[in-house]
Amino acid sequence: MTSGPGPISAAQIRPDQTSAVPTRPGRGGPGFYAHQLARPGAVLAPMAGYSDAPLRQLAAEQGALWTVSEMISSRGLVLGGDTEKLSLGRPYPGETRRAVQLFGAEPDILARAVQKAEAWFSPAAIDLNMGCPVPKVRGKGGACLLQTPEVAYALVQAMRSATTLDVSAKIRLGWDHDRSVEIAQGLAEAGVGLLTVHGRTSAQRYTGEADWEAIARVAGAVPVPVIGSGDITSAAGARARLRLGVAGVMIGRGAVGNPWIFRALATGEDALPPAPERAATALRHAQLHADFYGLDRFGVPSVRALRKVLPGYLPDHPELREALVQVNTVEDVRETLAPLLKQGGMEGTPASPRLPAAAEYAGRHP
Ligand SMILES: Cc1cc2nc3c(=O)[nH]c(=O)nc-3n(C[C@H](O)[C@H](O)[C@H](O)COP(=O)(O)O)c2cc1C
Repeated sequence: MTSGPGPISAAQIRPDQTSAVPTRPGRGGPGFYAHQLARPGAVLAPMAGYSDAPLRQLAAEQGALWTVSEMISSRGLVLGGDTEKLSLGRPYPGETRRAVQLFGAEPDILARAVQKAEAWFSPAAIDLNMGCPVPKVRGKGGACLLQTPEVAYALVQAMRSATTLDVSAKIRLGWDHDRSVEIAQGLAEAGVGLLTVHGRTSAQRYTGEADWEAIARVAGAVPVPVIGSGDITSAAGARARLRLGVAGVMIGRGAVGNPWIFRALATGEDALPPAPERAATALRHAQLHADFYGLDRFGVPSVRALRKVLPGYLPDHPELREALVQVNTVEDVRETLAPLLKQGGMEGTPASPRLPAAAEYAGRHP
C-alpha cells in the first residue's frame, strides 16, 4: 500500500539509542527560519492531538513553509522516553522543515531536552511553548511563563547553549492582559531567532477573536521575524493579515482537513480541489496514520483518532459525516468514501498523489 521506506517504529527509537533516527539532512540549522521566510507561504501550527506526522506530511507536501510538532514535555523527554512522547517527536520518513516544540520550566532540563530532541527527532529548529493554557501544563511552563517571563528568558538562553539550531518561542499576548511587546523584546534579547504570537491572552483560551493589531505591534517592536497566529481560515484571510507587517502567518484549525490552504499561499492557486480529490486525500491521511502509528494496543491498525479530522475534508458532503465519525480502520474510510472515489476514478488508489502545482513548487524549492 505504501511506497518508499516504511515508517520508523517507536520500538526502533530507544532512550539510549540516540542514533536511531537518521541525522539531520541539512535543511535545518542556523538561519533555517530566515531561509524559509524568503518564499511565500504559511506555517502549520503546533496543535496537540492534530499536528502529528501525517498532518505535517500533508501540509509540507502542499507547500507549508515549515511545520511545528505537537508540544513535547521536556521532562518526559529527558526523564521518561515512553512511546507516546516519541510518537510526538518522531519524524515521518524523509521529514524536513519541521520545528520541534518543547515545553517546560527548568533551564537544565530544557537544555538536555533540546539535545535529545535534536538527536532523536532531526528537527530543523526548536520552539519553546509559552502559550499552552491547559491546567496540566501550568506550573510546568506553557502560558504560565507569561507570568514569569524572566524564567522564559533563562530557558531560551539554556536552550541556545545546547544547540546550534535556531531557537524560537511561541507566546500568547499575556497571561490575562497584553504584555506581549515587553515579553517579546525580552525573548529577542535572550536570543530567540523568531517569535510566534497567538493573538489572545491565556485567560481567553480560544474565545473571542485573535487581536492582530496587538500581533502587528509586536512585529514592529522586535528585531526578529514575527509570525502571527489566530483565526486564519482562508488564503484571503491570511493575505490580509500578512499586510499588517508580520513576517509570516501560522495556520492551525483552518488547516485541519484543508492542507490546500498552504498550496494557495505558496502558489496563488486558491481553488479547493474537487470532492473526489479531497476524499482521496482523506483516505491518504488515514493510510499515513495507520502506517505511522502501526497497531494499537488491541493489535488493530486503528484510525479512530481521525474521526475528529476526516469530516473536515468534505464539509460539502454532510451525508458522509455520520459514517466518518465512526471509522475504525483505513478500510472503513475507503468504504465510506467509495462513491466519491469512484466518481473521481480513484477507487484503486490508496492515496491522492501530490497535486501538480505543489509537486512543481516542491521541486523549485527543495
Ligand atoms: C487542539 C489544539 C491544540 C493546540 N496545541 C498547541 C501546542 O501544542 N502548542 C502551541 O504552541 N499551540 C497549540 N495550539 C495553539 C495553536 O498553535 C494556534 O496558536 C491557535 O489554535 C490559534 O490558531 P488557529 O486559529 O489558526 O487555530 C493548539 C490549538 C488547538 C486548537
